[in-house]
Amino acid sequence: MSNLLRTFENEVQLAALAFMGLVYALRLVWIFRFRVGRERTVAVGREGAGTGYSLMNIAMPWAMESTRTHPGRYLEFVVLHLGIAAAIAASFIIPYGPGLFETAWVRGIFRAFIAAAGLAGLARLARRLTNPVLREISSPDDYFSLVFLIVWLAAGVLALPDRPAAGEGPLLAFFGLTAFLLVYVPFSKIGHYLYYPFSRIYLGRTLGHRGAWPPAAAKSAGAGPARKGAA
Ligand code: HEM
Repeated sequence: MSNLLRTFENEVQLAALAFMGLVYALRLVWIFRFRVGRERTVAVGREGAGTGYSLMNIAMPWAMESTRTHPGRYLEFVVLHLGIAAAIAASFIIPYGPGLFETAWVRGIFRAFIAAAGLAGLARLARRLTNPVLREISSPDDYFSLVFLIVWLAAGVLALPDRPAAGEGPLLAFFGLTAFLLVYVPFSKIGHYLYYPFSRIYLGRTLGHRGAWPPAAAKSAGAGPARKGAA
């Protein structure tokens, strides 16, 4: 293995990771400087129940109208994220646990997940480009993040035989793109996972307090559709 590839797989990744960690730490300091708004309405439900429901919403496709009516899109979202997780794991396994990828079926599973994620990304990109409503609300970062992820996932599939002797190009491309991803992520929508717990906890607490979440509690409190019908 060349020194260039060794450096790309190790020092360059660690520097990019440290940069990402630093930007995230600064963001967290910034987020925690905001005072949490005080709820002034009368408590009808339980804040804790609303928070749990809100955080788990991502694993309850039946709970959101958009995923309930478009189960295929939910599947796409899951496939995309599983493949991303596999590619991130591969970027650590290749330099620090290469023994795992000596087993052909393990490599095969990772490649299949990453390739499926690339296809899910392509489907989402096609929809963003062709659906006029989605186009209207899409920012340049929405497009760039998706295109970049698709290219990065494709590089992951090509790199995964993890055979530098057969040519280092795919591995150099994968690790070069991974380093760029780590530096770019904190400034893009891809950093959404950092904000996820904050936004979900805050929303869940508010709607839990008002008795709107979880829906079962809302019904027994007489809120929501049941009350609408009675009015
Ligand atoms: C705890 C981790 C994560 C959570 C909870 C999460 C959650 C989500 C959610 C709820 C969406 C919206 C899905 C939709 O509109 O159907 C989304 C979209 C997206 N996520 Fe994540 N995500 C996580 C990690 C990641 C990571 C690590 C990446 C990339 C490195 C990523 C890349 C994306 C992209 C690119 C989209 C937008 C797809 C599009 O524009 O169609 N996510 N994520």
